[in-house]
Amino acid sequence: MKISKMQIKRKDTSGTAEEIAFHRVIESAKNEEERICYDPYAVHFIGPELLKFFEATACNYPEAKARLEEMYRLFPGTQNSIVARVRYFDDYLQNCIDEGIEQLVILGAGYDTRAYRIVGLKEKVKVFEVDYQGTQKVKTEKIKEIFGSLPHHVTFVDADVGSEKLFKNLLKHRYNQTQKTLFIMEGLVYYLPPENVETLLSSIVQNSGSGSKIIFDYFPQSMVDGTCELEVGNLIYERVKQSGEPLKFGIKDGTVEEFLKERGFSHIQNVTSEDYKKAYFYGKNENREVCSLYSFVHAMVEH
Ligand SMILES: C[S@@+](CC[C@H](N)C(=O)[O-])C[C@H]1O[C@@H](n2cnc3c(N)ncnc32)[C@H](O)[C@@H]1O
Repeated sequence: MKISKMQIKRKDTSGTAEEIAFHRVIESAKNEEERICYDPYAVHFIGPELLKFFEATACNYPEAKARLEEMYRLFPGTQNSIVARVRYFDDYLQNCIDEGIEQLVILGAGYDTRAYRIVGLKEKVKVFEVDYQGTQKVKTEKIKEIFGSLPHHVTFVDADVGSEKLFKNLLKHRYNQTQKTLFIMEGLVYYLPPENVETLLSSIVQNSGSGSKIIFDYFPQSMVDGTCELEVGNLIYERVKQSGEPLKFGIKDGTVEEFLKERGFSHIQNVTSEDYKKAYFYGKNENREVCSLYSFVHAMVEH
């Protein structure tokens, strides 16, 4: 596998975005019948340390395999839930393209590569990738290295997604408020203060065309307020806190439908770990454990 030359600089970039890319790298290295998701570009977005680790696992070095096993033991099911999330969001986006969305806004885009790998997207859909400046800078440099230039169908917006100015900023970049838009928020909402989640959801409702949709994943409130009964919940909490991106927002079990309905959404579908385990983990993958703390939800803006 040829890796582009620029080394990812860690300063001012998102560590969690790199970790998620690493999960996609590991899954994508599996053979076609076994892998749950496939992202051939993810490997370009991991830093030298994780790249070395990945190469060692790919070479079946016992030490690297043991380190990976240890990670799976400490955080049971998380790798599988994350790759299932990538696959579910990919499938959902593909459905939305088939149904005729005109714009895709990826909020907290990190090293999301959907704009470059989802079939049919670039011909039909205008894409906006929103993240903080540091991560965007590394991303755009990498994209130029991989493809030779920045693709015309993607606009990179440096912004705080929780800010009231988000849509002002998007409008400056020729976002169209009347078009049917999908908003992807993958691995994002739990990092925002609750008041910023409120601002974000209400500004989506106010600034999107008929038939627009959202999809995001979330953790239970117990994981954020320290009352989670599963050890893995507390370990995830500590790990992301140490990486400088602490969890701030959760949704009480069983209340996501009510939560989104009250904020102007309809056609709400909650996707639990049991749902995606059943959908994707069968045959050779049947024994792969998922983490019950990761849930996804999608909904339509009520107009
Ligand atoms: C866990 S990563 C997920 C990245 C990507 N969505 C994925 O799933 O691979 C979270 C991303 O959200 C971004 N992020 C967090 N809070 C943000 C905010 N308030 N405004 C813009 N980006 C934010 C981080 O910089 C990071 O890239």
